[in-house]
Amino acid sequence: MNPLYLALDLPRLDAAEALARKVKAHVGGFKLGLEFFCAHGHHGVHQIAHVGLPIFLDLKLHDIPNTVAAAMQAIHVLEPAIVTIHASGGRAMMEDAKAAAGEHTRVVGVTALTSLDDDDLASVGVPGGAGDQVLRLADLAHQAGLDGIVCSGHEVAAVRRQWKEGFFVVPGLRPADGKGPVMLGDQKRTVTPRAARDAGASVLVVGRPIAKAEDPVAAARAIEATL
Ligand code: C5P
Repeated sequence: MNPLYLALDLPRLDAAEALARKVKAHVGGFKLGLEFFCAHGHHGVHQIAHVGLPIFLDLKLHDIPNTVAAAMQAIHVLEPAIVTIHASGGRAMMEDAKAAAGEHTRVVGVTALTSLDDDDLASVGVPGGAGDQVLRLADLAHQAGLDGIVCSGHEVAAVRRQWKEGFFVVPGLRPADGKGPVMLGDQKRTVTPRAARDAGASVLVVGRPIAKAEDPVAAARAIEATL
């Protein structure tokens, strides 16, 4: 299976679908985020699913267990291959989310958002920094019966050591030859797709390096060739 998932973070559904069709031979699936889901809902997900690859619904659900379980049931019909929830929602929330998910859906826990640095984490009551928090929440997600977690390429090797059979989703990736606008944006602590794979990532999430490339097919193919 191709571990590469393309993040379709485009505001227009027709543009997202066109990009999906273009690169479909060189990626393993499509990641649809909260923005896409709020804008296009189930209809939009169906539209992308028709392209014919697995769907990763990156909704980062976080609420009381009953509400998250009900939300998982509501997206069941979409048959997503992967859904995200926040591991900081706690063990009961994760257990109930997993129990409510479809049999073929992998439920993965978001550990520490990479938009938060150690100072930000301290300000919300997490004084030990991101590294500690990722390992702590990975352990809790494992105990709660989740399939895996989301973490950065810098943490995935350590998480893999403590959770051998886990399913790990790694975003924040940049090809080694990345240049021009592709390297801009908010990503700071990046690794290459190959390095993340070697460190134990199960799924590699790539967005702008493909979506914003002059030739998205060539960009996707080039990344695929490194794996
Ligand atoms: O930066 P890029 O466009 O490749 O990001 C792809 C996807 O991964 C986006 O949907 C973004 O929200 C997500 N992401 C993330 N954590 C990061 C970097 C990106 O969840 N550290």
